[in-house]
Parts: sequence; C-alpha cells; structure tokens
Amino acid sequence: MTDTTTTEEYPREPTDPIEATPGSSKPDPILRVDGMVRQFGGLKAVDVDHLEIQRHWITALIGPNGAGKTTFFNLLTGFDTPNAGTVVFDGDTLPKRVSPNQLARDGMVRTFQLTKSLTRLPVIENMKLGVKEQLGEHFLPALFKPAWASQEASIEERADKLLARFKMDHMRDEFAGTLSGGQRKLLEMARSLMTDPRLVMLDEPMAGVNPALTQSLLGHVVGLRDLGMTVIFVEHDMDVVHEIADWVVVMAEGQIIAEGTPDAISKNAKVIDAYLGAHHDDTDDDTELPADDGGHL
Ligand SMILES: Nc1ncnc2c1ncn2[C@@H]1O[C@H](COP(=O)(O)OP(=O)(O)OP(=O)(O)O)[C@@H](O)[C@H]1O
Ligand SMILES: [Mg+2]
Repeated sequence: MTDTTTTEEYPREPTDPIEATPGSSKPDPILRVDGMVRQFGGLKAVDVDHLEIQRHWITALIGPNGAGKTTFFNLLTGFDTPNAGTVVFDGDTLPKRVSPNQLARDGMVRTFQLTKSLTRLPVIENMKLGVKEQLGEHFLPALFKPAWASQEASIEERADKLLARFKMDHMRDEFAGTLSGGQRKLLEMARSLMTDPRLVMLDEPMAGVNPALTQSLLGHVVGLRDLGMTVIFVEHDMDVVHEIADWVVVMAEGQIIAEGTPDAISKNAKVIDAYLGAHHDDTDDDTELPADDGGHL
C-alpha cells in the first residue's frame, strides 16, 4: 500500500491528446461510468451516458445549481442507488448497490457539501472514528496490520501525521465544534485520507471557507494529486477551477454537456448557454464565463 505521508510527482500532461467531447476516452481511467440514471419522480436528476476520469488528475465537476452534481457524487460513492448504470472503479465493476464503507475499503472516499464532523468530539477522535467506521474493526487495512497488537496506537499515529500535514496538529484535542468552517473542511479532508484512498471526491471543498484559508485548502487538494491520488471536486468558482483543475467536466440538467481543459471550457458556447440560459450568440467567440464576482458562477 502506498504511504500517503510522502510526496511523489505524477505526470499531469497526457501522453496522447484527449478529445474534449462529453464522454471522451482517457488514456488511463480510474473511473468509468456508463448509462447512469437517477430519477426523482418525473425529474432525471442524473443521466450520464459515458464518463471516464483520468487517474492522477484533478477533475473539476462544474454546472449550474441543480445540475445533478451532488446526486452524481451520491450515486458514485454509495450514498444513493441509481435506477440504471454501471461503474467500473480501477478495473472492477461495482455492484449496483454498494455501501460507502465498502467503497472506502476499496479506495474511494468523498467529502460533503455540508461538512459532517462530529462537533462534540475532539479533532483526533473525529480522525480515528473515520477509519474505524469506514473500515470496520475486521477490515483495518494492511497499513495497520504490522502493529496489529497496538492497532489503536497505529491509527492514532496516522491521524497525528495527517493532522500535521494539514497543519491542524495544534487543534488535535479541541472539540470539532470550536473549529471554523474552513478548518472543518480541512478536518473532513484529512479524515477522508485515513483509509488511504486512491480516489478522493470533494463536494464544494471551498464553500463557506474564509478567503484566508482558501489558498491553503487549494494547496492541500493539489497535494493529494502529488501523493498519487485522483481527485474529483465540485466547484462553482471558475478562478479556483483554473488554478488547480487539470480537466473540467460540465453537467447541466443531469447530463454531461462538455469536457475539456479549464481554458477551453470557459470559452465553450454550450457551457456559457447552460449558465446564462439560451441567450448567448454563438458567433461571439470572445465570450467567456463571467469572471467578475470573483469568478463565482
Ligand atoms: N432526494 C431528492 N429528491 C427529489 N429531488 C432531488 C433529490 N435530490 C436532488 N434532487 C433534485 O435533483 C436535481 C439535482 O440536484 P443536485 O443537488 O444533485 O444538484 P447540484 O448540481 O449538486 O446543485 P448545487 O450546485 O446547488 O449543489 C435538483 O433538481 C434537485 O432538486
Ligand atoms: Mg450540490
């Protein structure tokens, strides 16, 4: 198992040019989704024909409010069950119903748009609980096995290392309820790494974060990729997408309507239409996604 406490560089640039169309093939996809549908009454909240996520990249999932981004995350991470569809994660086809804990054991974790830290527990206990809940006492990974007899100490050691990496070690014994919104996002990200995931899915990691903490959070997201993980994150702020995303996938009304580099996506007429309604003039090549208002879409 990889030691996610050390840093290694992974290539960002694809060896082959990747076609920037919805559902395009990737040279080494870690995740492949086919025919995924989630219907709420008459509303198709998710209707994804085909999507591939490239390993070791940071992929941004963007789209207007209600596009289906969170529902898609829920389906991929076992928090909801699709009406139809298959997911292949790192070569294995996932069962139609799969629990989030099973997926965490397999190497896929997510964080939430609204953080889920347990406010009445100290930071360090939140970290430890993460791994125990997700992996269960019988499934603690190889990572902890050499010290089986002192598993608790081994888990705590990993938690402390991660807290140090996220510069939260001085808060280890504080109640999570005393942390700021940004610090809770950091805690949630750190906790998600307790299970040594290969794919980390972050739903609006910057939402509600004090601007003073934004750069540090962004640095940590980039750090996950540098440690060999694959990251998918939902984001509304195009400046953030430009800064850290290798690739952008755009959802609207449940479907993937565009894919491409951040630059290409911000000039894509279909994407602009999805955000601004159907009033955009296709002949105006200079139109870009609105960047004033801090680039917030
Ligand atoms: N449990 C549910 N029951 C009924 N409708 C739902 C449910 N969850 C989501 N929806 C609907 O599905 C659509 C997609 O919602 P979703 O939360 O996935 O969008 P989103 O892209 O994450 O939006 P935002 O950017 O606002 O977070 C919306 O129309 C929403 O109202
Ligand atoms: Mg959402």
